[in-house]
Amino acid sequence: MMNIVRKGFWGTVMAFAFPAAIAWAGTLVPLSAAPTMPAQNLGTKSKVELGKHLFFDPRLSKNGSISCAFCHVPTAGYADPRPVSIGVDNRRGGRNSPTVLNAAYFPKLFWDGRASSLEEQAIGPLGNPVEMANPDYNALVGRLRKIRYYRVAFYKVYGGAVSLDRIAQSLSAFERTLVTPDSPYDRYLMGDVNALNDAQKRGLAIFKGKGRCAVCHNGPLLSDLSYHNLGVPQVGPLAVDVGRYAVTHNPEDKGRFRTAGLRNIALTAPYMHDGVFRTLRDVVDFYDKGGGSSPYPKDPLIVPLHLTDQEKSDLISFLKSLNGETKTQESYRASRSR
Ligand code: HEC
Ligand code: HEC
Repeated sequence: MMNIVRKGFWGTVMAFAFPAAIAWAGTLVPLSAAPTMPAQNLGTKSKVELGKHLFFDPRLSKNGSISCAFCHVPTAGYADPRPVSIGVDNRRGGRNSPTVLNAAYFPKLFWDGRASSLEEQAIGPLGNPVEMANPDYNALVGRLRKIRYYRVAFYKVYGGAVSLDRIAQSLSAFERTLVTPDSPYDRYLMGDVNALNDAQKRGLAIFKGKGRCAVCHNGPLLSDLSYHNLGVPQVGPLAVDVGRYAVTHNPEDKGRFRTAGLRNIALTAPYMHDGVFRTLRDVVDFYDKGGGSSPYPKDPLIVPLHLTDQEKSDLISFLKSLNGETKTQESYRASRSR
């Protein structure tokens, strides 16, 4: 069920500034500077470098055509600008690829929460017939062992040969650096009142108040880490997507998907688990009319909002304040502006 947290720093601020909103809004807090690093997989510099190399290398796929970055496109906020991803041999998957930015903070990964760590997650696409399509992992490992760069790099990082676990560990170490803790929104929460413009401040009030977004989109990731059915229209190759039910087999979970994190959301169109909405305006209009219809029970929190045009555009301005940059992007920019 929904978790409403009313205490803490932001709750106190809100009780003061928006007394009407406090009844249901969850806590909005800045993102910590770095996600937790598992003790078994410390992110040394050379491991991160190796992981980055792997992430961008199409030789990880069966026919050498598709890298992780093919579906997690850096210029599209590390998400996929196509509604559903296209893998090896042009096969279409059933879901829109979420961003890898800040994925390291999520305790459960994928739209249905079926993976519990980045290490576990990374192995998925390598073997997935629609994604990188490696029929057996030994072939992949054998292929990388033939490449001199990897022989040297794996030995340097792990003191041993290429293995599936080490591939997953390196990719995860790199992903833990793809974080954007310093957005204008975070700076605002930490007390920089000028970090948001007036439209964004009004948008934030709607996010917590009339728009009811913060009921589900709260916490450091703007996600309650829970699963809800909004009645998102099912489009694309799948006629039905049961969502969370496939993991839990609990009938109540039919049609429920993980509350998406909203960081960098303006960069990662299209939206929802099947990429049905092209723009943030489409998303806001969808919520405004009370979501969609569903063969399964819809979440009672989704009700018509009656937002004005101005309120919708303020809300969208606010969502843009959730864009942040990774350290690499910042240093790249700094080096170019010199
Ligand atoms: C063919 C496209 C494709 C390729 C290639 C691909 N992914 Fe994905 N990725 C997706 C899709 C689609 C999802 C969502 C699937 C779902 O939820 O069922 C996803 C989900 C993820 C997630 C979970 C994000 C979250 O918020 O839960 C991570 C992390 C990730 N991919 C990393 C990788 C890595 C690392 C690689 C390379 C080894 C990779 N992906 C290759 C399409 C792709
Ligand atoms: C009942 C909980 C709930 C409420 C309330 C809610 N959301 Fe969501 N949100 C979700 C879930 C769950 C998803 C993923 C749904 C899916 O793909 O089927 C989502 C997805 C989104 C997405 C797309 C994310 C992506 O990566 O594709 C955006 C944008 C979004 N919500 C914004 C909002 C805004 C703005 C509001 C307020 C007007 C709002 N949400 C209210 C639960 C909620």
